[in-house]
Amino acid sequence: MIEISDKEYRAISDFMRTNYGIKLGEEKKSLVTGRLHNLLIEKKFKSFSEYYDYVISDKSGDALTELINRITTNYTYFMREPNHFDFFKDIVLPGLASNPNNRDLRIWSAGCSSGEEAYTISMVFQDYKKNNNSNMNAKILATDISNKALEAALKAEYPKESIDTLPLNWKSEYFTIGSDGKGTVNNQTKNMIKLAYLNLMDTQFPFRKKFHVIFCRNVMIYFDNKKKDELVERFYDALEPGGYLFIGHSEALNRDKTRFKYIKPAIYRKEK
Ligand SMILES: C[S@@+](CC[C@H](N)C(=O)[O-])C[C@H]1O[C@@H](n2cnc3c(N)ncnc32)[C@H](O)[C@@H]1O
Repeated sequence: MIEISDKEYRAISDFMRTNYGIKLGEEKKSLVTGRLHNLLIEKKFKSFSEYYDYVISDKSGDALTELINRITTNYTYFMREPNHFDFFKDIVLPGLASNPNNRDLRIWSAGCSSGEEAYTISMVFQDYKKNNNSNMNAKILATDISNKALEAALKAEYPKESIDTLPLNWKSEYFTIGSDGKGTVNNQTKNMIKLAYLNLMDTQFPFRKKFHVIFCRNVMIYFDNKKKDELVERFYDALEPGGYLFIGHSEALNRDKTRFKYIKPAIYRKEK
């Protein structure tokens, strides 16, 4: 077992906090070392400092990609926090539909992990469109810093257990089910999603147009407060007036610092 010294852990946690906003406190030490230990053995490093030096000096970026893939927590599932999707379908979409200028919706799943959130948004939207004879279209940008998660999102193939809980009509309409029960998201649903690497710590987002809705759920929970407050302000600027921000139910915005209006738990709005 390769032990990590306090200094080595501080180097890795400072690096993750400065560059990706992810705070790795003392309580995460065994988790982090556990996630990296096999990699050190595989690559024949004798210490965490040797490994860390390799990551920061590797010009190809591969070592960094691997570090991010191992450190980030990518836990997610379809229809997570379902009342968000009810609110999206019952309040957000009819509200947007009432303005004829909103024919092309722009939605962002920020910190999308392996894609379940973005595909859920897409399916809810397609159901809404069908049921309401709507002529709106939607493009969903889904971004993350974990290439491994983005690759899974691109593949869009999910085990039987993760799609078993979905409405039956979704399985037949939006997936192709293999003989092993795995479901692959169909092309129409996939085509609504654009996947991209984007670090939410970037101080400027590269978007020409603003979004109608941003989902950033269960991502900021890993960020330190200052970085989180700054990110929330960037989200505000990236939204159309009247646009919505959905965050995770275990998260909250700092009401003294934000311009967002609180709507209900984990839902905020930019005033018109
Ligand atoms: C727990 S998952 C949440 C997935 C989904 N939003 C949900 O609620 O189920 C958190 C995701 O945020 C991503 N993440 C963490 N820090 C990030 C950053 N600085 N920029 C972009 N994505 C980040 C992680 O890679 C991970 O895939």
